[in-house]
Amino acid sequence: MTIEFTAQPAERLPEARRAQVLADPAFGSVFTDHMVTIAWSERAGWHDARLCPYGPLTLDPSTQVFHYGQEVFEGLKAYRRADGSVVTFRPDANAARFARSCRRMAMPMLPEETFVRALDLLVDLDRNWVSTRQGHSLYLRPFLIATQPGLGFYGPSTSYLFVVIASPAGTYFRSGLEPVTVWLCAEYARAAPDGTGAAKCGGNYAGTLLAQEQARQWGCDQVVWLDPVERRWVEEMGTSNLFFVYGTRLVTPELTGTLLAGVTRDSLLTLAGDLGYTVEEDRISVEDWRADAAAGRLTEAFSCGTSSMITPVGRVRDADGEFLVGDGRPGPVTLRLREELTGIQYGDRPDRYGWMHKV
Ligand code: COI
Repeated sequence: MTIEFTAQPAERLPEARRAQVLADPAFGSVFTDHMVTIAWSERAGWHDARLCPYGPLTLDPSTQVFHYGQEVFEGLKAYRRADGSVVTFRPDANAARFARSCRRMAMPMLPEETFVRALDLLVDLDRNWVSTRQGHSLYLRPFLIATQPGLGFYGPSTSYLFVVIASPAGTYFRSGLEPVTVWLCAEYARAAPDGTGAAKCGGNYAGTLLAQEQARQWGCDQVVWLDPVERRWVEEMGTSNLFFVYGTRLVTPELTGTLLAGVTRDSLLTLAGDLGYTVEEDRISVEDWRADAAAGRLTEAFSCGTSSMITPVGRVRDADGEFLVGDGRPGPVTLRLREELTGIQYGDRPDRYGWMHKV
């Protein structure tokens, strides 16, 4: 069934103001002129699909999402190429993960083609918000919330709202390509076995904020999560996945069900193989991270995710001290993969896997 969208044009932000925002966008702080909404109810299924002016949602204070956190989201980007065309990166992969997250959170699954179409319509309508600057993009945030009013916790909500909003993006970390310092979190766990760790739900992020605060107090940019049982195996960074570089061998933590299956992670596993590196998904212990870095076997480490892209990890800290990865500077493998991936996204490298989706 094809869902028909109705369009209500917004009053556009004046050109000069938009140009000012695009010149130096702070991640996720200014939004484009429009948004998409699609409602779901038990009776009507997916209905009332709109492209409407960006603006507040009006919800009853008892609405389920505020109390029981039934919410999932995605993040992906649209890029402007030198020829003026606009493309998104693997929106079908985000659509598939969104559906998996919905299933885990007992939410209705939006047809994947409707997810992609909603993004296309919004990006097309607000395409003048996709920056022409290399390295800049339009960050897309689709999400689904439970909208049934009432505090009774009897089961999944009987109504939902799917929304897509868009925001111009420069670099996620203000430091850009400067390596980050990470905090090995021993006190808290992000996700439990058979829990919701592999779903992209808001609760997974809320639960990490205290540890993120702790990381800041220790002078670190980000938390590295360890497995919830032994607190020994490296999992992810909370906003991104991690890769470890041993010369020409790359290892990323295997998907155990407690970490997010990143689209960037998946793409790099493929690209690294194509560039001649050996790639493995395996367990990596904190002891090995420390020992391999000290012995010079571990040459680089980097995080990868949609918003933060590929960011070198230069320094690792815990309550007992710290160690450097390599010389603490961005390494050649990190830079090469970053160049390859951005090259594909901006059209400077061939798109061998058909990842780029023209809007
Ligand atoms: C993304 O990278 O798209 C995310 O969803 C992470 C978010 C914390 C900004």
